[in-house]
Amino acid sequence: MRSYKAKMVEPIELPSRAEREAALERAGYNVFNLDARDVYIDLLTDSGTGTMSAEQWAAMIRGDEAYAGSESFARLAESVRDVMGFEYVIPTHQGRGAENVLYGVLLEAGDVVPNNSHFDTTRAHVVNQGAEPVDCPSPAARDPNSNEKFKGNFDIDAGYALVEDVGADAIPVVVQTITNNSVAGQPVSMANIRAVAEFAKDIDALFVIDACRFAENAHFIKENEAGYEDWTVAEIAREQFAHADAITMSGKKDALVNIGGFTAMRDETTFEHAKQRAILFEGFPTYGGLSGRDIEAMAVGLREAVTPPYVSDRVEQVAELGDLLSEEDVPVYLPTGGHAVYLDAGEMFPHVPKEQYPGQELVCALYREGGVRGVELGGFAFPGTDRPDLVRLALPRRTYSREHLEHIAETAAKVMETAHEYDGLEIVEEPPMKELRHFSAKLRPVSN
Ligand SMILES: Cc1ncc(COP(=O)(O)O)c(C=O)c1O
Repeated sequence: MRSYKAKMVEPIELPSRAEREAALERAGYNVFNLDARDVYIDLLTDSGTGTMSAEQWAAMIRGDEAYAGSESFARLAESVRDVMGFEYVIPTHQGRGAENVLYGVLLEAGDVVPNNSHFDTTRAHVVNQGAEPVDCPSPAARDPNSNEKFKGNFDIDAGYALVEDVGADAIPVVVQTITNNSVAGQPVSMANIRAVAEFAKDIDALFVIDACRFAENAHFIKENEAGYEDWTVAEIAREQFAHADAITMSGKKDALVNIGGFTAMRDETTFEHAKQRAILFEGFPTYGGLSGRDIEAMAVGLREAVTPPYVSDRVEQVAELGDLLSEEDVPVYLPTGGHAVYLDAGEMFPHVPKEQYPGQELVCALYREGGVRGVELGGFAFPGTDRPDLVRLALPRRTYSREHLEHIAETAAKVMETAHEYDGLEIVEEPPMKELRHFSAKLRPVSN
């Protein structure tokens, strides 16, 4: 049973099958090109797509729109101090703005940055500074069926191997992403966070946490890591950050807002430098590209994220979707992570070669069968890699109900029944930067 009720509603409608077929063709078999009104259940992302609480909406009315030193900023800074324990805060328009501000200050050309797994914008911002991003995921992440609880962990051995390779001086920053979005939203353990902090200290590097889904991660620690059963999610959340020097945060995730982000840190000198960079790219450092009302919503959302039963409710809903899909024998990455269920398209369409994008075929099939929009995160989105062809179904926060989840599972089951009819897709048009092609490329069925 969910712990909230709807106070405001937005109608959704399942277009007819013929309309869905036509919409898919118009979109060039790329669901990013669909009009949102043609989508029945939108699982493209959990980023900024959730439902805000009555308290957040109420706080927005109070938004102080002063250019400098607003009360809304003061309230955000207080929330960040209370919930995350950082003294210095700079709001930004979203998570990638925070990455631009912080990494612009911390990195130089030629640096190397290890991370359990870089999210794509993080990777791009590291590269943008002339530095090299290196992923150090736990080996357990490669097995979609192992029941290990913290598959998002940072592989410390891989970190030290990197140090041997490039030398400690080349690594000014070590990053840990919680939860690990690029590895099926899997959590990292508190023991691993501590180990990464020690690793960073050992090589005299700063320890930065990509904190987007910090509350979901804290929930997994409470549920699955010995010694934390009796801690509150709020206590665990703070403890996660206790050894970190700085964070980047997309408020569109665990600050429960539709737009916003921030970077926060302990060191005053870094803060002063970051403020200058924020002025250049985001706005005056007390509004950072956001309106006062957006900042208010984020200040309230951060506190709600660690107040029971929000996050257990959230993670349980994701697990519920995973269970419904598993009951239909749909191959799901296990255990389910914090924000999404990942389907294994390679297993669903074993006859479709990797070069014909089984993941993208599955994304299109889910839309065609039930108006459900997911996203491919395999060979189409990450060209030239050997990543498994996973499709992510990300649940917006506090938005859909059990009946919607059942519809999603039934849709996937229908696709399974007719899996042999799908032959895959070929690209007919793509942008010059292949890394960004999944946002806009156009495809067609190979049988055409
Ligand atoms: C782990 C992680 N880091 C950074 C970002 C970037 O945040 P934003 O989309 O707000 O720029 C995201 C967004 O999905 C993310 O999942």
